[in-house]
Amino acid sequence: MSKFNIAIDGPSGVGKSTIANLLADAYHMIHLDTGAMYRCVAYYLLKNKVDVNNEKELLDALENIDISFQEDQVFLNGENVSKEIRMNEISMAASKFSAFNAVRKKLVSLQQQIAKNKGYILDGRDICSVVLPDAEVKIYMDASSKARAQRRYQEYISKGIDADYETIFQDIVARDYQDSHREISPLQVAEDAQVIDTSDMTIEEVVEEIQKIIDEKV
Ligand code: C5P
Repeated sequence: MSKFNIAIDGPSGVGKSTIANLLADAYHMIHLDTGAMYRCVAYYLLKNKVDVNNEKELLDALENIDISFQEDQVFLNGENVSKEIRMNEISMAASKFSAFNAVRKKLVSLQQQIAKNKGYILDGRDICSVVLPDAEVKIYMDASSKARAQRRYQEYISKGIDADYETIFQDIVARDYQDSHREISPLQVAEDAQVIDTSDMTIEEVVEEIQKIIDEKV
């Protein structure tokens, strides 16, 4: 089997990263979590109090951002920010700043550069349509906002993190709205992506379903 790329899009909390990691293990591919990259940018812009409405300031800041991955850890300018970028404040900020053209331009080009030699699984919002329009396998993972909020709530509780279902649900709804109503690369189902509604599926069932699609295509 020659090398190929897999593009996975979908809304917040649908489990894209979990599934992408399992597929990466099964097919000996590398998973690139593009959401983590937008989170790094948001973390940097907030931490350095960058005036994002000042174009020069924003472009200068973007020049100074270096993002790298080591296994499942994310580094921003050499600092391990894996935990910090998962904070709720950063989720909302990532969604807000990802609507800026300059931010998307930088990250899309970086993602394309990384995946150009194939063998990558990228998950995000615009992978099928913008980042990897030539990906051999294109998946859109969906689930109801209630199912996604419930999963995230269970995840926090099982990790011993204090959580409030209603707050999680409202955040998911707000981020869905922001991500699907922005002007540039809004979250949408690419014409040639295969949609999987995971609301009532287990992780194993989703992986199995995608494996069938991969095995048919490549
Ligand atoms: O996937 P995750 O929730 O970590 O992504 C954080 C935010 O980054 C999303 O809400 C979305 O606004 C943005 N994002 C994006 N394009 C991607 C990946 C993430 O706009 N390819």
